[in-house]
Amino acid sequence: MKFKIALLAGDGIGPEVIDQAVKVSDAVAKKFGHEITWKPALTGAAAIDAVGEPYPDETHDICTASDAVLFGAIGHPKYDNDPSAPVRPEQGLLKMRKKLGLFANVRPTFTFPSLLDKSPLKQERIEGTDLVFLRELTGGIYFGEKGRRDGGETAYDNCVYTREEVQRLAKKGFELAMTRSKKLCCVDKANVLETSRLWRETVQAMEKDYPEVEVSYEFVDAVAMRLVQWPNSYDVLITENLFGDILTDEASVISGSMGLMPSASMGSDIALFEPIHGSYPQATGLNIANPMATVLSAAMMFETAFNLPEEGKAIREAVNKALAEGFVTEDLADGGKSYGTKEVGDYLAANI
Ligand code: IPM
Ligand code: MN
Repeated sequence: MKFKIALLAGDGIGPEVIDQAVKVSDAVAKKFGHEITWKPALTGAAAIDAVGEPYPDETHDICTASDAVLFGAIGHPKYDNDPSAPVRPEQGLLKMRKKLGLFANVRPTFTFPSLLDKSPLKQERIEGTDLVFLRELTGGIYFGEKGRRDGGETAYDNCVYTREEVQRLAKKGFELAMTRSKKLCCVDKANVLETSRLWRETVQAMEKDYPEVEVSYEFVDAVAMRLVQWPNSYDVLITENLFGDILTDEASVISGSMGLMPSASMGSDIALFEPIHGSYPQATGLNIANPMATVLSAAMMFETAFNLPEEGKAIREAVNKALAEGFVTEDLADGGKSYGTKEVGDYLAANI
């Protein structure tokens, strides 16, 4: 098959980890007889520096003309401590999600048998953990009306959801649950928030369409707690934008390193694949960042965007082998022998 993939490396370690995912994807393409054309495009602080805009129209056009988008990371410290910056790299990411209609963010948390001792949690607590968050990505407090009043002394961010936005996300959640263990948890704060009551009411009304799925409703604060107590008790979790942002960072370290978990963002059309971690500015250019989350995002791309499970499996097996043999970056090396970003990428590609 022939694919055109938009390549948005972004900021910080983005370009370094993206290079490894390209290398690994090209190795997969060669092995299975596919042809990939990469279409690099600017985004984030890199795009602000070059053209004054974090998600330029040209980048959007490249994305819509592609079969999938592979994304690195966004964010630069020069903006983090400047609340008055007129344009911020993160705005590019939000604009991209909105314009590409990427309303469902799939963020898995799973463990690797060879890394059980690397988790901040006790081994018996995490064994068998294999859960997936479906985070709503284009609504809620991220996109509601925001501003200042009283001469700047009061600030507000509105959280708004429509029933239709909840339904389309929940539908993906029910469908995903049907392909897994048929357990779905709706995470909300319905004891306090009106938007959460709309979520709960909407999901409850959909239960009859999926009689085999066992649905639980849990408050977000309790989920935050249970995630570190019994992560293996969850399967598919659906939640709104901000709760999902926070809980998926919490969940992502259960596997042992933030540099391991991939993600996919989907809507009705094109899908985007990116690591859960951020741009890790301190490591930029040092060849120390763990490329595995981005490489596993490429695996998700083959599996879900191109419907090629064998190709995805080849990548996952190469990653498992590298982990089992200790061919890892310093975040996983426990002070022992470690390898560079590029060397890990080379190793993975060679093993495919
Ligand atoms: C994420 C990030 C973004 C978010 C930021 C960079 C805008 O934290 O993808 O989780 O909050 O959604
Ligand atoms: Mn986040």
